[in-house]
Amino acid sequence: MSPRLRKFVDRLPIMAVVKPDRRNKKDDYYHIEMREFRQKLHADLPPTTLWGYNGQFPGPLFDVKQGRPIQVKWANKLPSRHILPVDKSFHHLDTMPEVRTVTHLHGGETLPDSDGYPEAWYTRDFREVGSYFEREVYHYANDQRPLTMWYHDHAMGITRLNVYAGLAGMYILRGEEEEKLPLPKGEYEIPLMLLDRSFNRNGSLAYPRQPQQDPDSPKLPDPSIQPFFLGDTNLVNGKVWPYLEVEPRKYRFRILNAANTRAYQLYLDNGGTFYQIGSDGGLLRKTVPLVQLALSPAERADVIIDFSNYPGETIHLKNDLGPDADPEDQTDDVMQFKVGKSLSTEDESKIPVNLSYIPSLKNNKITTIRNLKLSSVPDKYERPVFLLNDKKWVDPVTEKPKLGETEIWSFVNITDFPHPIHIHLIQFQVLNRQPFDLDIYNETKQIIFTGAPTPPLPNEHGWKDTVSAPPGQYTRVIVKFTPYTGRYVWHCHILEHEDYDMMRPYDVEE
Ligand code: C2O
Ligand code: CU
Ligand code: CU
Repeated sequence: MSPRLRKFVDRLPIMAVVKPDRRNKKDDYYHIEMREFRQKLHADLPPTTLWGYNGQFPGPLFDVKQGRPIQVKWANKLPSRHILPVDKSFHHLDTMPEVRTVTHLHGGETLPDSDGYPEAWYTRDFREVGSYFEREVYHYANDQRPLTMWYHDHAMGITRLNVYAGLAGMYILRGEEEEKLPLPKGEYEIPLMLLDRSFNRNGSLAYPRQPQQDPDSPKLPDPSIQPFFLGDTNLVNGKVWPYLEVEPRKYRFRILNAANTRAYQLYLDNGGTFYQIGSDGGLLRKTVPLVQLALSPAERADVIIDFSNYPGETIHLKNDLGPDADPEDQTDDVMQFKVGKSLSTEDESKIPVNLSYIPSLKNNKITTIRNLKLSSVPDKYERPVFLLNDKKWVDPVTEKPKLGETEIWSFVNITDFPHPIHIHLIQFQVLNRQPFDLDIYNETKQIIFTGAPTPPLPNEHGWKDTVSAPPGQYTRVIVKFTPYTGRYVWHCHILEHEDYDMMRPYDVEE
């Protein structure tokens, strides 16, 4: 358990935008280094040893323009020993170098050779590389609809540890249509990276070596992967429980859940409203007012909060832990807003009703409907292995959509908790969710629907790349596979699941 840390004593860090090392005629070039470093994450905590892009946690903020491609060399300058316990008991991880990295731009329409395929990993200075490694310098076309993305490590079997160590950052793609809207801008537009961590007394990151074990189950490997991780503190932009001084005006927050397992249920303790203007894939059609905002791992919500009615007040961003929460659990707190009394300039921003045009994929010809089971089975140590459609990572590719075709993917969750499912390359639309009887399914393997399909939530009526698939439901998404062919992946974004073994390759075919 983390030492006791006071709340709201550290100022929220504002991520600095990274500048290109070189501007070429057609693109910009960035050299980014993954390094080990120490950083103060809380006033009461000694500095924490972390891994981060450019020695920062969160990594540097990319703020780039639609139509202007960039190249990034994600150079690995990490030591050869991991700072966290690495379980090598699955996937032949014992045959791979302990420290390996590969960076994925989450939400990006990226060619396969730059997408951060898990087996395209490499070690320090590219001395050793995985079987799918193709290039040292990644290319991002920035040719898609503007959106808030994030980049993070995606190395085979250790993504949960590399991201937990700090390898994550945000990436904003801007476009003209959006710039024309009267949204809060400049210092009134702030990206927020939410995640949870636990600490040892000396400030080091705490991550369990092994899960809690039943005394009569087989002896676990040491270390052993665990089926989920929940930290006991919340961090925003790399500080534990920070505060932010705001003016009594509107702010735009691009919120990302970068936690390994934790799903947030955000609300403001004064009953205030989040005006959600964007989802994973950029602007929504219309602004959606919400008093509670659910954010699964890897999901993004672009929201406006209007502080103009609360001059001089102190407001907390809270996380609803539900009625059964342990009273000792401190993770109901996220951060604090201290609203000042005066404006530095007049607030000319507005909360538009209409935001953007989004064509519905429902009118497309559907070529394939896939039912994809989300399940778990015990391994030889009686640990759960999470599976997609009963297949492991190493099994042959089964999902082979054709370029330009539209499919429906139904995630049939027969486990007892929600899995946030993410598909690389594309943005999809949520079609509906439909409940079925899980008890009957478990006894007879038959699906008996217990209700009609329900439409997506108001803030899911836009482009998404990650969707929460609740237990005992079909979660249907509609996907057009474009603009590239090649090998990609889809997976659960609970990183402890993704690593073992809830990730599958898929091919977009010509
Ligand atoms: Cu955010 Cu495949 O990942
Ligand atoms: Cu992704
Ligand atoms: Cu999962």
